[in-house]
Amino acid sequence: MPSLGLALVLLVSLVSPTSSCTEQEKSSLHQLLAGLSRDGGLTASWRHDTDCCAWEGITCNQDMKVTDVSLTSLGLEGAISPFLGNLTGLLRLNLSRNLLTGGLPPELVSSSSILVLDVSFNRLTGGLSELPSSTPARPLQVLNISSNLFTGSLPSTTWEAMKSLVVLNASSNRFTGQIPTTPCVSAPSLAVIELSFNQLSGNIPPGLSNCSALKLLSAGYNNLSGTLPDALFKVTSLEHLSLPNNWLVGDLGGITKLINLVTLDLGGNEFSGNIPESIGDLKSLEELHLEHNSMSGVLPTGLSNCTNLVTIDLNSNQFSGELTKVNFVSLSNLRKLDLLFNNFTGTVPESIYSCSKLTALRLSYNPFHGQLSEKIGNLKSLSFLSLANISLTNITRTLQILSSSRSLTTLYLGFNFLHETMPEDVSTDGFKNLQVLYINHCSLSGKIPDWLSKLPNLGMLFLQGNQLTGPIPEWISSLHFLFCLDISNNSLTGEIPSALMEMPMLESDNTTPPKVFFELPVWNKNKFMQYLMPSAFPKALNLAMNNFSGMIPEEIGQLQGLFSLNLSSNRLSGQIPEQICNLTNLQMLDLSDNHLTGTIPVALKNLHFLSRFNISNNDLEGSIPNVGQFSTFPNSSFGGNPKLCGPMVANHCGSAEAGLVSIDPIKQNGSEVIIFMTAFVVFFGVGVLYDQKILARHWLKTCNCYHRPSCDMI
Ligand SMILES: *[C@@H]1O[C@H](CO)[C@@H](O)[C@H](O)[C@H]1NC(C)=O
Ligand SMILES: *[C@@H]1O[C@H](CO)[C@@H](O)[C@H](O)[C@H]1NC(C)=O
Ligand SMILES: *[C@@H]1O[C@H](CO)[C@@H](O)[C@H](O)[C@H]1NC(C)=O
Ligand SMILES: *[C@@H]1O[C@H](CO)[C@@H](O)[C@H](O)[C@H]1NC(C)=O
Ligand SMILES: *[C@@H]1O[C@H](CO)[C@@H](O)[C@H](O)[C@H]1NC(C)=O
Ligand SMILES: *[C@@H]1O[C@H](CO)[C@@H](O)[C@H](O)[C@H]1NC(C)=O
Ligand SMILES: *[C@@H]1O[C@H](CO)[C@@H](O)[C@H](O)[C@H]1NC(C)=O
Ligand SMILES: *[C@@H]1O[C@H](CO)[C@@H](O)[C@H](O)[C@H]1NC(C)=O
Ligand SMILES: *[C@@H]1O[C@H](CO)[C@@H](O)[C@H](O)[C@H]1NC(C)=O
Ligand SMILES: *[C@@H]1O[C@H](CO)[C@@H](O)[C@H](O)[C@H]1NC(C)=O
Ligand SMILES: *[C@@H]1O[C@H](CO)[C@@H](O)[C@H](O)[C@H]1NC(C)=O
Ligand SMILES: *[C@@H]1O[C@H](CO)[C@@H](O)[C@H](O)[C@H]1NC(C)=O
Repeated sequence: MPSLGLALVLLVSLVSPTSSCTEQEKSSLHQLLAGLSRDGGLTASWRHDTDCCAWEGITCNQDMKVTDVSLTSLGLEGAISPFLGNLTGLLRLNLSRNLLTGGLPPELVSSSSILVLDVSFNRLTGGLSELPSSTPARPLQVLNISSNLFTGSLPSTTWEAMKSLVVLNASSNRFTGQIPTTPCVSAPSLAVIELSFNQLSGNIPPGLSNCSALKLLSAGYNNLSGTLPDALFKVTSLEHLSLPNNWLVGDLGGITKLINLVTLDLGGNEFSGNIPESIGDLKSLEELHLEHNSMSGVLPTGLSNCTNLVTIDLNSNQFSGELTKVNFVSLSNLRKLDLLFNNFTGTVPESIYSCSKLTALRLSYNPFHGQLSEKIGNLKSLSFLSLANISLTNITRTLQILSSSRSLTTLYLGFNFLHETMPEDVSTDGFKNLQVLYINHCSLSGKIPDWLSKLPNLGMLFLQGNQLTGPIPEWISSLHFLFCLDISNNSLTGEIPSALMEMPMLESDNTTPPKVFFELPVWNKNKFMQYLMPSAFPKALNLAMNNFSGMIPEEIGQLQGLFSLNLSSNRLSGQIPEQICNLTNLQMLDLSDNHLTGTIPVALKNLHFLSRFNISNNDLEGSIPNVGQFSTFPNSSFGGNPKLCGPMVANHCGSAEAGLVSIDPIKQNGSEVIIFMTAFVVFFGVGVLYDQKILARHWLKTCNCYHRPSCDMI
């Protein structure tokens, strides 16, 4: 056997022609190197005296011709050399995830050998050049230019030469103009058109009807308008149709002809009309996203036939009527059901509780009625449950039932149970995983209940808008993960306890709540930002609108992690403690409507991120520091303190007190928001500014849009 092996090796090496790549190929590759200002260490590997087939990132065929150049994630900077087009055997060029700049050489797109061209995740600029329609057929199959800075229109005639094109991925660039009108006339094999996150406008072109092999059409987050053309409904090969966040209108009439759809995402448009009965024809449908549209009507029986559905998102529409037509029993694969902000009535159908794979159920803000069913305990995987403002009654019973839902991490119960009493005894066995709990705006009487102390993972607790009495319990500091507490607008009394100054999460800037994702995205209170994880929220304490008395404890300076502190509208007295100036992360500080005396600590100027500050309606005295942030706060921040003096209040200081300098004009709210957002994003990076278009259309009209760094959310 060994001798046979040896013979084979000898044979192979004898028939191999040359043992090295050609000088010309070496030189083409060196041209690439020459164009780079940072080469990621390639120079060391790409030595002229060695065979280029052995160089890092290079693969050759038996004929020693370079077939693959794969130089990804090497931190390459500089331009892509057109000389790569001289590698006549090159099949695959992958330069993704570098820092390359300049244009994409047309020689590469129109190469007569390249099959796969991937330059995604770089900083390439300029346009894609148009190839004349006379260009002979090119072999390119995969073109991935996603995540660059390309501008201009997408070519229109180029596709005529791309007869073999299968994948076109141009997402996350700055392309303008229209979607190519007839991309498939010459490229019948085109299966993937991915154009999302650009600035494309105009209609969805009817010419797509020629794309008989198209499986994926994705053009979300653009500026597309008009209706879905009937021609599109002929493309029955489509499996993924994703057009969210455009300005599309019309109804969904024809869409059910696309019987192979697996994903249908039309969220954030202006679609109207109802979901057609024929939706049941979409037997393969797994993802149905129609959120943030103007759709209405009752959910059809046909929906029960989409037995593969995993996600139904109808959030923020005007759907109405009872859910009784849908037989949820047949939707046994359902994991997420989001009906937030609609007009559904009747009781929550029992059949929902047979969807045993449900992880997220959001029914909030619908005029449902009736009590919660005990069968919700069947939903063993339920992690996110949102039942705000659905007219629930009997909180005792509701908590009893839910305490057997052991997977719950996020629970919204606000705006229900009006004027009931907060139960004192609740079995907490099932709430061990709870991280976010809302029992807000229920006008509940009673006190802050002790069973909350047995929720070891609680990170965010919202009890505002009740009528709770008594003190803040001492056990509060035993909640090791609590980083956001809102107990405002209650009737709580007593001093601010020292236990509150020992909250582990608030004491340090470095402690971060566990990074887990919400099963469904949530929004901050005025819907300005969208959040995907609790840890994206700022650390905050809100004790406003209670009857707390005594001094603000000096130990407040220990809460170094705090972003937002609101103690307004209480009966706090004494001085503003100097130590508050240690809270260098503070972006919002509200001490208004108390009985505070003494002067404003000058060191507050060290709070560089402070963008909201209010000490109005106290009994403070002395001059308003005229440095740092202070010159940017509006007059109303200081009003109602007769003994305060300074340029922003009626009472100007005597020369002894001030040494005044000129003051920046009072900032517009808008710019404060931007400053806040910038600081916020720098700090968290995880909260995402909610899509501007959605914002403009659905929210800005209805909110006063002043973003406070609060952790309250919907
Ligand atoms: C290599 O490519 C460059 C740029 O496309 C071209 O100018 C040059 O003529 C080519 N050289 C050879 C030998 O093909
Ligand atoms: C290019 O390389 C990246 C990183 O190795 C890889 O993820 C990607 O799939 C490659 N592109 C193609 C088209 O194969
Ligand atoms: C498009 O490219 C991006 C980045 O290169 C990739 O993440 C994405 O999955 C691609 N989309 C499709 C549909 O291939
Ligand atoms: C670019 O897109 C192609 C085709 O969709 C894909 O195979 C490749 O993985 C993508 N590249 C990256 C870096 O994601
Ligand atoms: C494109 O589709 C239209 C109608 O859908 C058809 O009339 C036309 O012949 C098709 N063109 C090609 C080149 O297939
Ligand atoms: C979006 O499209 C509309 C027309 O439909 C146009 O007036 C507007 O300028 C476009 N906006 C951008 C940012 O391209
Ligand atoms: C749903 O499926 C049932 C049985 O499979 C069938 O009788 C009914 O016509 C279907 N309904 C719709 C709307 O597709
Ligand atoms: C909600 O539905 C009721 C009838 O059930 C209707 O009177 C009301 O106008 C609807 N509200 C909205 C906002 O659609
Ligand atoms: C709660 O729902 C009722 C009726 O469904 C509505 O009138 C009210 O505005 C809602 N409350 C909030 C805070 O949205
Ligand atoms: C609430 O439910 C409990 C059972 O959990 C019951 O004992 C109590 O009577 C109910 N309260 C009201 C007001 O219905
Ligand atoms: C305070 O809570 C009550 C309910 O207890 C509510 O009616 C009121 O609007 C709330 N006030 C503020 C300012 O939120
Ligand atoms: C907090 O502030 C006080 C007085 O302003 C200062 O003495 C102390 O060192 C500060 N503590 C920290 C941890 O910065």
